[in-house]
This record gives sequence, C-alpha cells and structure tokens, in this order.
Amino acid sequence: MAHDQIVGNIRIVVTEPQPGASDELQAQLAEYFETQGSGNVDVLAIAHDGLEAAQMAAQFQPDVILLDEEMPGMTGYEATELISLAAPDVASVLMVPEGRADRPEVIGQALRAGARAVIDPGIKPDVLVDLLAQLSDLQTARSRPEYELITDPAKMPVTIAVTGAKGGIGKSLITVNLAVSFAREYPGQVVLIDFYGQYGNVPLMLDLQPTYNIGELASFASELDSTIIETHLVTHHDSGLKVLAGVPGSAGVGGRLSEHDEMAFLADLIGLLRRQYRYVFFDVPPLIGKASEYVFSRSQFIVLVSALMDLSAVRDTATLYEQLLAERIAPERIKLVVSRYARTNELSVEDIEQASGAKVAQAIPDDPQAAVSSVNEGSPAVISRPNSPLARGMQELVAMLESAMAEERRKREAGV
Ligand SMILES: Nc1ncnc2c1ncn2[C@@H]1O[C@H](COP(=O)(O)OP(=O)(O)OP(=O)(O)O)[C@@H](O)[C@H]1O
Ligand SMILES: [Mg+2]
Repeated sequence: MAHDQIVGNIRIVVTEPQPGASDELQAQLAEYFETQGSGNVDVLAIAHDGLEAAQMAAQFQPDVILLDEEMPGMTGYEATELISLAAPDVASVLMVPEGRADRPEVIGQALRAGARAVIDPGIKPDVLVDLLAQLSDLQTARSRPEYELITDPAKMPVTIAVTGAKGGIGKSLITVNLAVSFAREYPGQVVLIDFYGQYGNVPLMLDLQPTYNIGELASFASELDSTIIETHLVTHHDSGLKVLAGVPGSAGVGGRLSEHDEMAFLADLIGLLRRQYRYVFFDVPPLIGKASEYVFSRSQFIVLVSALMDLSAVRDTATLYEQLLAERIAPERIKLVVSRYARTNELSVEDIEQASGAKVAQAIPDDPQAAVSSVNEGSPAVISRPNSPLARGMQELVAMLESAMAEERRKREAGV
C-alpha cells in the first residue's frame, strides 16, 4: 500500500534509550505528514528501556512499536520476543546500527524473535511511513472472509469425495443428490467436481450443458486463480450448485497433464475452491491412482459406495477400504454406503461389514422408479421426488454426514 492511501492515523510507541534520541525521527515524520496533508503518526508513548517498551506495547496496543537493537536492561530481540507473546497484534520494528539491517544473521535473529521488519537508522521518512502503513494495515486482514474461515470451526470448509470399487453402482447419483441437498441448504456455497467424466453422467443427471470441463481448466494450471475457475463452472438452476464438469470419455483431467502436474493442479484447485466454497464434492472414479489418492487425502469424508449385488462387489469394496486405510485415512472419515439396497440382494449388510471390517453408515434403497426417471429428466430425486424411498435414503445420508461434521467441529473446538 502506498502512503498516499493512508486514511487514519498510525499509532506507534517509540523507544529512546538516550533522552531525545527519537526527536529527529518524530520531527521528520511530522514534517512528512505536513507536506502530505493527510494522515499522521500518533506517538502514544515513549519507552526508555527494553522492559518498558515491552510493557507499553502490551498496555497501549499500538499498531507498531519501534525498538532499538541495544536498549538499557534488555536487548531489542528480548523485548520483541516478549511483545510477540504478550501483545501479538503489535508489529515490532527493530532499528539496528548502520549497515546491519540487511545482514542475514541480524534478520534471522529478528525474525526468530518475532519482529516484522529490521530498519537502518538512515531510513527515509517516506519509506518508514510506507512500512508503518503496511504494518498497521495487516490488522485489516481480520475483516477478510478467510479470517473467519480459519478462526471459526463452524465455517471450516469440508471436502467430501464419493467413490466406490465398481462401475455403475450409483456413485454419481449419490454425489449429485448429496451436492444438491447441501446446495439448497447452503446457497452459493457448494461445488461439485466431476472427476469421472467417462459417461458424462453428472451433467446428464443435472440437465446441464457445460461449456467447459476440468480438462480445459487444467490447461490454465500454472496461472490458476478463482476467476479462471469460476468461468469454468456451470450453475445448476434449481439448487445453485456449481459444477465443474468432467472430461467426456475420460477420468481425471483427461490425460492433459503429467501425473506430477496433475497433482500440482489438484492441489491448487482444491486450495482455491476451499477458499471460495464451504462444501466441495468430488465424484471419484473406481481406479485408485495417484490423483484419486490425493483427493482422498484432502477430503474430510470419503463416501465409499458399494453394492450388494454379488460377491465381487463386496470383495472389491473390502479391498478398496483396506487401501484407504493403508493410505492412513482414519476409519471414522470413511462412510460406507450401500447403494441400491434391497432385501433381494444376493448379500446382506452383515456380509459386507464382515468382509470389510467397516460398519455400514447408510443404505440407499434400490428405487428404479425414482432413479431412472430422475436421471432421464435431469432432476435429482431429492428435488423432483422428495418422498421417494431413494430421496428419503439420501436425506438420511445428508443428516448422517451433517452429524459427523458437527462431531468433527466439536472435537476441533475442544482442541482434540
Ligand atoms: N438407488 C438406486 N436405485 C435404482 N437404480 C439406481 C440407483 N442408483 C443408481 N441407479 C441406476 O444406476 C445407474 C448408474 O448410476 P451411476 O451413474 O450413479 O453409477 P456410477 O457408480 O456413478 O457409475 P460409473 O462407475 O459409470 O460412474 C443410474 O443411471 C441409475 O439408473
Ligand atoms: Mg459415475
């Protein structure tokens, strides 16, 4: 920020080890502001030794405190250390004797103590004012939405990956219904990433005609930002859900990037989405590659979808569950969901629990009527058929995830 943008006054505490030592500095600053015609530096107090400086920082809570490297009784480093503990919002600026300000060992020691800047006694008034303005401006970061995201556990973004060991078992249908349910509850705060565009099911299920897909977004990998991401999303009209379409006929980013670059892209993508959206859903393919593993590692919850149609479905689910555990994903983060559940299934809930060692968190009923027509109409069952067994099963799954999130939050708040 430039000094001509200063609106309010910058509140500082100065230190003068010898009487009158800060007079010149104060005079220079005063003169500087006079010629500028706006803004000012309010000197709240003058400290005479290190201990007093630290005490005044804690008492007056200035924007900035100017300290000398050597002060009576206590060095500037010691005082800075105490200030960063007792008054962490106060920016400490350490003035060191001529020629020392750019020495790495001096800067290193100052940084370790918690100083924000090291300056030379010959610093020009306009440079000093710029520095003071920048430092006092740091506090405005509190009003940024991201500040709330990191300080309020209730606002912590949640990433949910939906996956399964088999094709065609209802993974996308579950992802879409989940994402739409959250989108209706948290308008504008939910995004769905179709990481498995193979059969184009996600856009079909939502009746979307996306202009762009994740593969095209990946070509901006090196310059990815929120604006570029936003232009690649398509909005689902009925729920406000944002969707990043998959690459038709392909998984992941459609082979546009090397494995290494794909991971870097995913890291950026997830990082940026989490700043913008509260819930990020991923529809992840059954093949467990590096990219899927990465998505899982960044997910607070993994919905592991299985069917009970035949023994191989159950066995493959058990294997995938083991792989996830081997990736050191905590079992409580994996929610095993049985899809297309019916009494006529070859196998039972007990069978899959025994084979995998995981508890079934939710069963979604087999409901061809609601499933087929909602897919054909492009309107998820939770919206178009809220009373169908399929939609009811989905509502229970939403409630289960919400209570798991609430539990996570409680743990985080308790510092566990
Ligand atoms: N609960 C259900 N009851 C009845 N039919 C269902 C149910 N869930 C899904 N289906 C049917 O199964 C089809 C495949 O579902 P979906 O595309 O969600 O599976 P998938 O696991 O994502 O498949 P793929 O591995 O190809 O991505 C759907 O088109 C729908 O007709
Ligand atoms: Mg699918």
